[in-house]
Amino acid sequence: MDIAIQASGLGKRYGDHQALAGVDLEVAAGTVLGLLGPNGAGKTTTVRMLATLLEPDSGRATVAGFDIVRQQREVRRRIGLAGQYAAVDGLLTGRENLELLGTLLHLGRKGARSRASELLARFELEGAAEKPVQTYSGGMRRRLDLASALIAAPSVLFLDEPTTGLDPASRQVLWQMVREQVGQGVTVLLTTQYLEEADFLADRILVIDKGQVLAEGTPDELKRKVGEEWLEVGLADADGLEAALAALAKVAVASPTVDRASRRISVQLADGMGAITAAAAALEGTGVEVVDFALRRPSLDDVFFHLTGRETDQGQDASDASDASATTHDKRAKENQ
Ligand SMILES: Nc1ncnc2c1ncn2[C@@H]1O[C@H](COP(=O)(O)OP(=O)(O)O)[C@@H](O)[C@H]1O
Ligand SMILES: [Mg+2]
Repeated sequence: MDIAIQASGLGKRYGDHQALAGVDLEVAAGTVLGLLGPNGAGKTTTVRMLATLLEPDSGRATVAGFDIVRQQREVRRRIGLAGQYAAVDGLLTGRENLELLGTLLHLGRKGARSRASELLARFELEGAAEKPVQTYSGGMRRRLDLASALIAAPSVLFLDEPTTGLDPASRQVLWQMVREQVGQGVTVLLTTQYLEEADFLADRILVIDKGQVLAEGTPDELKRKVGEEWLEVGLADADGLEAALAALAKVAVASPTVDRASRRISVQLADGMGAITAAAAALEGTGVEVVDFALRRPSLDDVFFHLTGRETDQGQDASDASDASATTHDKRAKENQ
């Protein structure tokens, strides 16, 4: 397996503030690593060091096989960087921006022109290609920013909070575009504060906070660290709660928890289908009216809370994936502390 990015003990201080305190990471070629952490965690610092824009105080790293301090030019030739703060010029059109970049990156005038056209088409910006970028929507700007990062066909792409502030629909479009790049073999290191984004895009996730790695693994591995699946049962009315609780207690491995206000019971079952059928049969026997009966798994929200003791900042996220069970997840995470 080829390793596209490898870092060990990366550290950085700003004055007497230790922004990064020895980060290790490894990204296999053609995969996506999600660097997940709240504001101030050290995400941008990590990306800027790997992209050779900032020298580490300690530790070392290679990108595409080249040392980020001693072989900066080799690294730069192979990477693209896009992020929250678009590097494009608002007064120029989308096409002009891309052609200018292509020329700066030595594609030649003709090469730059054809690459620009190709990227404008791929990122669904053809209609706006001749308009100044300052007239673009947030989503269009991010797409152009991503296109700029890809001008020189990099093998490693750094995306620093690529969808922060975007509406859910634009975010989805950008996610698909990132996936397309990965499908073509590009390695991606992506930073995000959005759990769903890491869940959707990343093969592996590194959770960082206060300059330190708190956990690493696939999204599934991280979720399993927090807890097993549980069964959630919603009742039509509160009268049935006691009967349902008693019935479920008989098939559960731990005593069920109940949220009386929402008439919901959560219960941990033994592994396997047998336990689920037994729970269904036990409920059926009580005659209580069940309106929801579903297995739930810990979410990355639970993981994040478990690791940092903090809620994620998903309030303004307008996330369409935050379903009704999110509140139950949060409660369970607290109980598990
Ligand atoms: N140029 C700088 N000077 C001083 N402190 C900085 C500078 N850049 C970042 N920091 C601090 O370093 C920490 C990590 O910042 P950063 O890497 O930007 O985090 P993130 O991208 O995860 O929000 C934060 O506490 C931030 O305030
Ligand atoms: Mg940042």
